Amino acid sequence: MLVLLPCSALAASHGDGEDHEHTPLEDEMDAMNKAWRKVRRAVADPSKNEATIELVMSMIKHAEASVELTPMRIEEIPEGQKDKWLKGYQKAMKENVKLLEQLAAALKKDNNDKASALVAKINDARKQGHKKYKPQDDE
Ligand code: HEM
Repeated sequence: MLVLLPCSALAASHGDGEDHEHTPLEDEMDAMNKAWRKVRRAVADPSKNEATIELVMSMIKHAEASVELTPMRIEEIPEGQKDKWLKGYQKAMKENVKLLEQLAAALKKDNNDKASALVAKINDARKQGHKKYKPQDDE
């Protein structure tokens, strides 16, 4: 039942493969962000849980795809440290997947207080992840 995602979940891919303005990771992040804005608005409202769970499931898909991708900031990291840096990124992104799974589970139990607390936690993880792994001149 959870595979019934709308086509918009695929909207971040560029059909012709000729648009290189966005990295694949930026595309995953943009897709995750679209759902995230709606999740944050709806998380306290139990009447919206069914739709919110679908949005969180789509975020999980994009977060899982992000684990496999390499942030562009790796270019700034000295040669001998790149491996360790990338492992740190992968660990942080896997933790993000775990938190999103906990969020989906809380919503399935109609525990909106717990879900709201998890949204705050995910938001902190997002900020930390961006501070460490996103180019700092990037908004
Ligand atoms: C709810 C969670 C998150 C949301 C909604 C989110 C959203 C975004 C957005 C909107 C961008 C800019 C994309 C663009 O410029 O087109 C971005 C970039 C980025 N984010 Fe996230 N993010 C989240 C969590 C994380 C986490 C946990 C990490 C690291 C572990 C992370 C690492 C990055 C990186 C590295 C970039 C730059 C893209 C690149 O290097 O190609 N994000 N994110």
